[in-house]
Amino acid sequence: MKKKEPVIRIRKAKLSDLYQINNIGHNVLLDIPGFVWGQPSWNEEKIKAGWYWVATENNLVVGVICLEFRNDGIAVGHMLSVAETHQRLGIGTKLLVFAKRLAKKKNMQQIQGCSFLEYDATDFYLKSGANKTSRQQSFQGHKYNCFYLDL
Ligand SMILES: CC(C)(COP(=O)(O)OP(=O)(O)OC[C@H]1O[C@@H](n2cnc3c(N)ncnc32)[C@H](O)[C@@H]1OP(=O)(O)O)[C@@H](O)C(=O)NCCC(=O)NCCS
Repeated sequence: MKKKEPVIRIRKAKLSDLYQINNIGHNVLLDIPGFVWGQPSWNEEKIKAGWYWVATENNLVVGVICLEFRNDGIAVGHMLSVAETHQRLGIGTKLLVFAKRLAKKKNMQQIQGCSFLEYDATDFYLKSGANKTSRQQSFQGHKYNCFYLDL
């Protein structure tokens, strides 16, 4: 039986969230040279840039998303992660729905994001309505898929 859906709020991240963001960001860290996404200093820089949002349950951060809104109308998702204790409860989906709403409000035309095969997240992105580009790409020999959502 599926666990009860938690009550989730999504808000802009503050520097005081850094510790919790680092913990949740741990889920995406891969042992690849030059892998910066989700590293503590990268997280701090992106919070300061205003690119991070957090999903909270009872003021505890349980999910994070990092989104860049570019001048060319493309919103780039750099990071999406849900605490292991809270996965498969709809929080990742809520963060994507939030991202879509925000990107539309900012007049973006598309959201794009990439996902290393190690994450095994293809079903999640396809179920959320994203399209997968036909060509896989590679970073330091590690393959990743690219996804896009037209708004
Ligand atoms: C991928 C991730 C963000 C999904 O978030 P989530 O809150 O667990 O996902 P949701 O509960 O919203 O899932 C929605 C649907 O996506 C699919 N899905 C989610 N996780 C899945 C998984 N591990 N395997 C297969 N399908 C999955 C399911 O169809 C699910 O619906 P269901 O639970 O009713 O079957 C989360 O598992 C995570 O943080 N993983 C570790 C970090 C990571 O891989 N991030 C992606 C980097 S690109």
